[in-house]
Amino acid sequence: MRTRRSIRRFKPDPVPDSVIQNILHTAAFAPSAHNLQPWRFAIVQSPDSRTRLAHTLTSTLRRDMTAEGAPPAEIESRVARSLKRLNEAPVIILLCRDVTAIREDSREEEIMSIQSVANAATYLLLAAHAEGLGGNWICWSLYAQEETRLALGLPETWQPQAMVFMGYADEQPKEKFIKPLHKIVEQV
Ligand SMILES: Cc1cc2nc3c(=O)[nH]c(=O)nc-3n(C[C@H](O)[C@H](O)[C@H](O)COP(=O)(O)O)c2cc1C
Repeated sequence: MRTRRSIRRFKPDPVPDSVIQNILHTAAFAPSAHNLQPWRFAIVQSPDSRTRLAHTLTSTLRRDMTAEGAPPAEIESRVARSLKRLNEAPVIILLCRDVTAIREDSREEEIMSIQSVANAATYLLLAAHAEGLGGNWICWSLYAQEETRLALGLPETWQPQAMVFMGYADEQPKEKFIKPLHKIVEQV
């Protein structure tokens, strides 16, 4: 757990399907509120799905940055950077929340359900690391939830929460600063 890091550069080597299945199986062991297991995983496998995902995400990014008044050069450089990463990720898993896997319609239950999906994402990243893969949590699809769902033809109840890009690492991340315990812990 202490050696897992976000990996953003991958070798082009394909990841065996059995390894991906194993990682998803482990992710499904994450704790969830009321054990409702609200996570759903879409493996973006076909080139056509990847193209549709890329198209949707880049057009919503352009739309949002334009609405915020960002200069065109900045928009295009951000789009190009994000698109390169999307195209170079050997494996893309879209993590969704099944909005119907909830005990009752309340803000607290909704938060617990989102927290549960986040647990599955963390399990997924740790499982990938244990399998010798690198991974990175990507929040891009959160800004285009409905567009992403439609682009991939996912069920209406699947609400995209995050993507995980995975593959064999082609970088060695710099050492990271961890906040010391005395800054984050109170004995009360
Ligand atoms: C909710 C969440 C959203 C994140 N979104 C992104 C993202 O969109 N792009 C990215 O490169 N990394 C993203 N990250 C990864 C973080 O930047 C990374 O976990 C953090 O910098 C700590 O580095 P480490 O994972 O190597 O320990 C996200 C992580 C979390 C938990």
